[in-house]
Amino acid sequence: MTAKIISGTEIAKQIRQELKQQIADLKQKHNLVPGLATVLVGEDPASQVYVGQKEKTSLELGLYSERHDLPASTSQEDLLKMVHRLNNDPKIHGILVQLPLPKHLNETEVLYDINPRKDVDGFHPVNLGKLMIGEPDYLPCTPHGIQQLLVRSGVQTDGAEVVVVGRSNIVGKPIANILLQKKPGANATVTVCHTGTRDISAHTRRADILIVAAGRPKAITADMVREGVVVIDVGVNRIGKTAEGKAILAGDVDFDGVKEKASAITPVPGGVGPMTITMLMLNTVKAARLAAGLE
Ligand code: GUN
Repeated sequence: MTAKIISGTEIAKQIRQELKQQIADLKQKHNLVPGLATVLVGEDPASQVYVGQKEKTSLELGLYSERHDLPASTSQEDLLKMVHRLNNDPKIHGILVQLPLPKHLNETEVLYDINPRKDVDGFHPVNLGKLMIGEPDYLPCTPHGIQQLLVRSGVQTDGAEVVVVGRSNIVGKPIANILLQKKPGANATVTVCHTGTRDISAHTRRADILIVAAGRPKAITADMVREGVVVIDVGVNRIGKTAEGKAILAGDVDFDGVKEKASAITPVPGGVGPMTITMLMLNTVKAARLAAGLE
């Protein structure tokens, strides 16, 4: 079997078209323009690329966008001041502080101080708690994007054995929680593997749907999966540079080997990546609707 490729690029394009229409309607019917503020502290090159993509997509879809670039030496106090200012700005419906922050800053404290109503990343404990009890306002963007990839590719999650590799707060824990809810596009039996798991292959070989966010290239090889599995590869590893100096990306899954056994698989790049930004846009539209009392 050679796997069908699940194109995040194509599915993201579809969702962006839908959002563009919704944003135009909000403007026309309610004179409401959803506003997103991004905050980047320091000069991490990957973070600069991500924030640039978020800003570009906001503008393409017709959102109001503000970008705040702060020096790496920014104090905790000044960063919190910026967050509080954005919390109180009515033009801004969503606030995104790009992670990771420089080491001297307290990430948890910053995330706690974002108004949960403006937490379009879905990282505030209030929003994670609401997700866990099945009453979410905002789903974290990468896990929500993964769920949409599955749903829009016609992959059955109801009753499926889902195995997640990785237990991060950004991907592993929230995707496990999303897929175990008793809801359409979920209702799966979920196992989460991590660095403390004794025999990862014993779990991954049982998976109908395998979601890999391990942060390590080739963490999953063909011998670790069963025929017909659906594989979602969340990894973004920079494994080298082209002659022109552009980063060469690889996922966490040995794509060439695993695609011969899988029924469907996401590529890297062009899989989960474009979905994350798209779901951020979706959350920003939702934040504006909530703020205006439209939901
Ligand atoms: N760093 C890596 N992924 C993300 C994300 O989804 N949101 C934020 N704020 N930072 C990130």
